[in-house]
Amino acid sequence: EHEIEWWDYDDAEEMAAAVASDIAFVIESAIDARGSAVIALSGGKTPIPIYAKLAEAKIDWKRVTIIPTDDRIVPLGDPLSNVTMIAKTFLPKGARVMPIVSDKAADYKAAGRSADALMQDLHWPLDLCLLGVGADGHTASIFPGSDFDEAIAGPKERRGLGVMPEPLPKDAPVPRVTLSRAAIVSAKALLIAVTGADKRKVIEAAIKQGPSSSYPIGRVLADAELPVDIHWSE
Ligand code: 6PG
Repeated sequence: EHEIEWWDYDDAEEMAAAVASDIAFVIESAIDARGSAVIALSGGKTPIPIYAKLAEAKIDWKRVTIIPTDDRIVPLGDPLSNVTMIAKTFLPKGARVMPIVSDKAADYKAAGRSADALMQDLHWPLDLCLLGVGADGHTASIFPGSDFDEAIAGPKERRGLGVMPEPLPKDAPVPRVTLSRAAIVSAKALLIAVTGADKRKVIEAAIKQGPSSSYPIGRVLADAELPVDIHWSE
């Protein structure tokens, strides 16, 4: 059983500064060790102040590759596109930000295949994965109520990305591509950043439920191969 450590902050700004410096530290360590770093960053609203702070870090950004933990299958530039939100912050710093959805794909299954191909040429395992959590306990685009994650996890060595099969969860109306649970839990550093009491309750319930949790975040925490830091602010 690995340990799960809660890091509590008085406000989101304080959390953003702390999480940004943790991520910067992991990136610098990977660059020192290997000359490059590959990280997966989640979409959503919570991490926006984190990314703003992280972009200020004195890092050799051209040695950093960033992918979204998941993305909606929409054209680049679409307000729903996670890679577009991440690229806005990190492309100007010189980082390599890679989409996991080919918006040229004929259909979203093709987008998933292209995503999987992408994973083959990334350095594996990820140096870091930053996750958010939805109020329903979803993380990345792994939603409760479907064996979706089994469908895409595939054999351990595949690990990669997968396309969410139909039927799409009611609150995920746009088809999505996501890192599989296996891809997420093999990251060398796994961080979660959430705000608000509701999400804290969901995560605490998920931890109590253990490996068979109905919450995807519970399954991730149970499968994580290394200690997990959960950053939380009101
Ligand atoms: C996405 C994210 C998703 C997000 C949660 C929490 O594509 O939206 O990857 O998993 O982390 O939905 O989102 P908020 O931080 O906006 O609450």
